[in-house]
Amino acid sequence: MKARINGMTIGYSDRGTGMPLVFLHAFPLNRTMWEPQEEALSRRFRTITIDLRGHGESDAPLWRYSLEQYADDVAGLLDHLAVRQAILIGLSMGGYVSFAFYRNYADRVRALVLADTRAQADSEEARSGRFTTAQTAYRQGAAAVADIMMPKLLGATSRRTKPELAARIRGIIESTEPSGIIVDSMAMADRPDSLPLLARITCPTLVIVGEEDQPTPPAEARLIAQTISGATLTVIPGAGHLSNVDPPERFNEVVEKFTEGLG
Ligand code: MLT
Repeated sequence: MKARINGMTIGYSDRGTGMPLVFLHAFPLNRTMWEPQEEALSRRFRTITIDLRGHGESDAPLWRYSLEQYADDVAGLLDHLAVRQAILIGLSMGGYVSFAFYRNYADRVRALVLADTRAQADSEEARSGRFTTAQTAYRQGAAAVADIMMPKLLGATSRRTKPELAARIRGIIESTEPSGIIVDSMAMADRPDSLPLLARITCPTLVIVGEEDQPTPPAEARLIAQTISGATLTVIPGAGHLSNVDPPERFNEVVEKFTEGLG
C-alpha cells in the first residue's frame, strides 16, 4: 500500500487487528525485512511495516533529510491510519528513528522494542565511513554497497549455514535506490547523541540483540537496557545484526511475550 505523507509517497503494509506494532527497518533495507514478523504476529496484532523515505516503495529523492523527518513520516502514516498509539519496533537505523520519534511523539509510544541499535551519535571514524558508503552508492550502485554490508548483517553462523537468507537480504539491498543510501548516510551521520534521551524514556522497553551482532554488539544493547529505567534485555544466541531473521522464531517469541506483559 502507499500513502501521501509530508509530500512524499510512503510504502507500507497494514495487516491484522489488535494492538498496533509498527516496524522500522534497518539500513539499507526496506519493510520486507519484517516479513517473518508480519506473517507470525499479524495473527494476534495489527502489524504496520513502513518503507522509510528512500526505501522500498517510498519516494527516494536525492535531498538532505534528518532522521527527525523520517520520524515525522511515521507519525504522518499513523495519522493516516488513525492509529493514536503503537508499540514501536526499530532495528538498527530503525532504532535511531525510534529515538527521534520518541523525542517528538513520546505520548504516541505505548512501548519500545529497540533491536541491534546504539544510542550514541557517530564517532568521527563512523562519519567518514558514511562518506565512503555514500560515494560507493553514487559511483558503483547498491550492489557494491551490498558487498560491504552483507558480512556485517548476518552472524557468522548464518552466513555459513543459510545461503537463501543471505541471498534474500542481498536482493533487498540491491533493490535500494543509491539516492536512498546516500540520504540515509547523511542523516545517520548527523543524528544526535540519544544517550541523554534514554534516561527520559518512561514507556516499557525491550532491548534485543543478536549474540553475533558486529555493527552494534551486545555491549551497546546492555548500555541501552541499563540506562532506560525498567528496560529488559534479551540476547539471541547465534543471531547476527539482523536478529529478526536470524532466526525469526526467537525474535517473534520474545516480542510476543513482551507485548503480552503490557496487558
Ligand atoms: C543498520 O543496520 O541500520 C546500520 O548498521 C545502521 C548504521 O549504519 O549505523
